[in-house]
Amino acid sequence: MKPFEVIKDVYWVGAIDWDERDFHGFEIVRGATYNAYLILDDKITLVDTVKHKFFSEMIERIKKIVDPSQIEYIISNHVETDHSGSLADIKRVAKDATIVCTQRGKDGLCKHFDCKDWEFKVVKTGDELKIGKRTLMFLEMRMLHWPDSMATYIKEDRLLLSNDAFGQHVATLERFDEEIGVDEAIKWAKIYYANILMPFGELIKKKLKEIEELGLQFDMIAPSHGVIWRNPSKIVESYAKWANFESDNKVVVIYDTMWHSTEKIARAIAEGAATKAKVRMFHIRKDAWSDIMTEILDAKAIAIGAPTMHNTVFPPMAGFLTYMKGLKPKNKIGLAFESYGWGGGAAKEINRIFKELKFETMEPLRIRYRPTKEELEKAYEIGMELGEKASG
Ligand code: FEO
Repeated sequence: MKPFEVIKDVYWVGAIDWDERDFHGFEIVRGATYNAYLILDDKITLVDTVKHKFFSEMIERIKKIVDPSQIEYIISNHVETDHSGSLADIKRVAKDATIVCTQRGKDGLCKHFDCKDWEFKVVKTGDELKIGKRTLMFLEMRMLHWPDSMATYIKEDRLLLSNDAFGQHVATLERFDEEIGVDEAIKWAKIYYANILMPFGELIKKKLKEIEELGLQFDMIAPSHGVIWRNPSKIVESYAKWANFESDNKVVVIYDTMWHSTEKIARAIAEGAATKAKVRMFHIRKDAWSDIMTEILDAKAIAIGAPTMHNTVFPPMAGFLTYMKGLKPKNKIGLAFESYGWGGGAAKEINRIFKELKFETMEPLRIRYRPTKEELEKAYEIGMELGEKASG
């Protein structure tokens, strides 16, 4: 694939990772892109790099535009190696290039690479760098989602190179939101947000306010993953909504099962809830956790059930609970349920995690061995109650 001119003299020189399905535990069902951008100006500037295995692709794209040894600045918006992985290789070519990053960026890069001969320019929010006709302004994005993260704003073009923020994990040949459809782009951005940025809602709200106070206007937002937003207001509005955990009248039923008893309870709860609210149901060993978290993001209520094993929750569910807990969903109503044989323990553990997340909880539903007709009727009624709460 050739380099792609995003706007005059700003090129996409990144890589498309068609085959990746596991992004450090985040199941990405349609691959990913690593977007690096080359700015042609008096001082040629590369913004971010690509995962190491795609270095040769990136350098070939750059060579189609310019001699890479002429690059004078390399902006490293983020240390994580999907963006910095080719930094050492590009530095071997662009020997005199100065690396521009935050102080935490410099600290992190020097832990990943032998940086003793590298020249750095450390920047903070509001700092500017004139590269010719263009002025780059930097905006620290601390903990969005690493301490070193920042974004680069091209003032004259009103173009924000936002790194991970506003990104999507989807491999496409199209480079703009309109080309895959804005709604489709928002769908992928929501999955990305739910699985990477969900814990940072409060910081995102503060950052959006800071951007407003700085008076930054965007004609375009070009993240480091996925398509470029020609409709920046759409994604900014979506982030404001997700950061607030604005919820739909929706119940998400999540379960695992050994001998179909928990499954029967899950179905009865889902059917009851569906009389009052929208319902989504997931089996945690058959569905992508990234999809489950995306539905949890804007659900009002969550029912989670598992069999008890060795007096605690069935291990695959324990894994999912750890994943969910780390992403810190907020403002939910939680219903725990279990099938158990003697001591029990799964519902207690699930409910404990709900409480840790400060969910409003319902009395856990515990059913011994196989559910009877009467017990399934009770599960249905509890589902209705949960649906009622979700639609309220
Ligand atoms: Fe896309 Fe946090 O790296």
